[in-house]
Amino acid sequence: MNVDEIRNLKEKRKITMLTAYDFQIARILDENEVDMILVGDSLGMVFQGNPDTKKVTMSAMLYHTRAVTQGVKRTLIVSDMPIHSYDTPEEALSNAKHLLEAGAQAVKIEGNQSTVIKVLLENNIPVMGHVGLLPQTAEKYRVQGKTPQEADQIWRDALQLDKLGVFSIVLECIPKWLARKITHDVRTPTIGIGAGKYCDGQVLVITELLGLVGKEPLPKFVKKYANLHEVIDKAVTEFVNEVQSGKYPEKCHTYH
Ligand code: KIV
Repeated sequence: MNVDEIRNLKEKRKITMLTAYDFQIARILDENEVDMILVGDSLGMVFQGNPDTKKVTMSAMLYHTRAVTQGVKRTLIVSDMPIHSYDTPEEALSNAKHLLEAGAQAVKIEGNQSTVIKVLLENNIPVMGHVGLLPQTAEKYRVQGKTPQEADQIWRDALQLDKLGVFSIVLECIPKWLARKITHDVRTPTIGIGAGKYCDGQVLVITELLGLVGKEPLPKFVKKYANLHEVIDKAVTEFVNEVQSGKYPEKCHTYH
C-alpha cells in the first residue's frame, strides 16, 4: 500500500488501520491485509504504562517504528510525531525524516499544525492529519465537538488539513453527525476512532481490540474482538502450577 492507494479508496471501500508497536503483531496485521499500521504514541499508555502520551519521546517512536517495520511486507506504516517533536518546522522536518529512515512511509501530526505540515509536504513527506480529541494536549479525554463552536472549529481544521494535502485525517471522539459532515466535505479519506460509522475507515488501538487491557474500563467506542488478558492469565497460572508441582517439563520437553 502507498498513500495514493489509500487516497483512492475513498468512496470505494472502507479503510482499516490498527496500531502496532512490535514485530509480532505487525506481522499478523500485515498477513491479514490491514491497510495501515499506526505506530501510535498511544504506546506511552498501552506499552509503557503511563497515564497519557505526554512523555513519549522520538527515540521511543524510532525504536517501535523499526520493530514494526521488521514484520511488514505490504501494509502502509504511519508513525506518530510525538509531543514536542514538531515544536518548530526545522525540528519537525528532521524528526519526520528520521521516522521515514526507520521504516515509516508517512507521519501523523495531532491538530491543525499548518506551518509544520506544509513544510513536511513540501519535502515530500506524506502526512496524516488528526482532529477532534488530541491526546497530546487534552486535559481530559472526552468527546469533542459537542458545542456548535467546538464542532465548527473541528470542521474548519479538517477542511484546512484537506486543503494542505494530507493523505488522510483521523477523527477522534466526535459525534457521528460531525464525522459524517467532515467525511462528506473533504477529498481525503477520514479514519474514525469513536467517530461513528460514516468515516471512510476505522482505527483501533490493538491492545484494546485484543482485550489485553484487563479489567480497566474502556471507552464506549472500543469493541473487544478477543480477550487475550484471560488467555494469558490462564496460561501463566497453568505454567506456575505445573512448574511448582513438577509436571513441567516432561520427557518430551527434555534433551537426552
Ligand atoms: O496514538 C494512537 O494510537 C492514535 C490513535 C488513537 C488514532 O493516535
